[in-house]
Amino acid sequence: MKRDVVILAIETSCDETSMALVKNGNEVLAMTVLSQMDTHADFGGVVPEIASRMHTENITMVLSETLAKANMDVSQVDAIAVTYSPGLLGSLLVGIECAKVLSMVYDKPLIAVNHTMGHIFANQIENEMVYPLLALIVSGGHTDLVMMKSPYDIDILGSTVDDSIGEVYDKVARVLGLKYPGGPNVEKLAREGTFSYNLPKAMKEPNYQFSFSGLKSAVINLVHNEEQRGHEVRLADLANSFQTVAVDELLRKVELAFQNTGVKEMILAGGVSANRYLREKMEELANKYQVHFHVPAFQYCTDNAAMIGAAAYPLYLKKKFASYDLNAQSNFDIKAYIETLKEP
Ligand code: KG4
Ligand code: ZN
Repeated sequence: MKRDVVILAIETSCDETSMALVKNGNEVLAMTVLSQMDTHADFGGVVPEIASRMHTENITMVLSETLAKANMDVSQVDAIAVTYSPGLLGSLLVGIECAKVLSMVYDKPLIAVNHTMGHIFANQIENEMVYPLLALIVSGGHTDLVMMKSPYDIDILGSTVDDSIGEVYDKVARVLGLKYPGGPNVEKLAREGTFSYNLPKAMKEPNYQFSFSGLKSAVINLVHNEEQRGHEVRLADLANSFQTVAVDELLRKVELAFQNTGVKEMILAGGVSANRYLREKMEELANKYQVHFHVPAFQYCTDNAAMIGAAAYPLYLKKKFASYDLNAQSNFDIKAYIETLKEP
């Protein structure tokens, strides 16, 4: 009989201090997410210095609260997992130092988890990931379409050639005068409008490269031109038109992958996967091609430690443990990461 594996996972890459206890990569025994969003909203975005200071202030409390929720202590877990990349350097370091201390004191293996992989494995919580599967990563830092043959065998089909979709949502939010966090606010406003502005579609070529900068510039220019002419911008209509074109760009590439690969499983990953319009449109497309489509539950779409515990599980099974030299890496090169998975 297989023994249960419980991983204590730590996530501090941006503005959420989060810890979770995850059993066998798919069962969340406890999770705590302490968001700093309200503090950063006053500044219009995450302030790195404030973020790391708040992680330092809160991390011990988040640890004791998480353990108390599951009525466990650190000696009962099998490993300590922590996000080491990508993210804000100072923020990542708070989580990493905490993980190292727990690992040393309790003599537990340390597992270094990539945050973007965490977003992918959020799909494993409450759902089985069936391979081969197509994963669309739509986050603040990334827009990638990848084919996974197993947790350790990943091919990149295509990535954005310019901005990530999350970044563009956030920029558009700003020109529309919406508050941080941009993405959810654009989505909310879009629901009140109709598709009535003519915005350029991105690349027409049948490849897997995404592009969003043309769309972003078009929205910015439109707002500025209308303001200069003294015209009123129909903000909800513009949000709706932007979202329709942006999501369409994602749909076209995914449809191409359905046609070319015949894949029958698909997942969405990353903060933008919390977007209901995207979830609905992607589901429609998947139904058309008879593809099983999964998205994480809303609480696992945005940053959280449960997804880090889920992503750590396949690494635990392969004994891919980190040394105490582990350092934070602010940038993430998905290609380089995939190579590390192949190492024996
Ligand atoms: O995946 P994530 O945590 O970022 C990285 O790990 O890089 O996602 C954050 C991004 C932000 O750009 C945020 O605006 C966007 O996800 N986001 C959304 C929604 N919720 C979060 N974008 C559109 N619609 C949403 N409902
Ligand atoms: Zn994230």
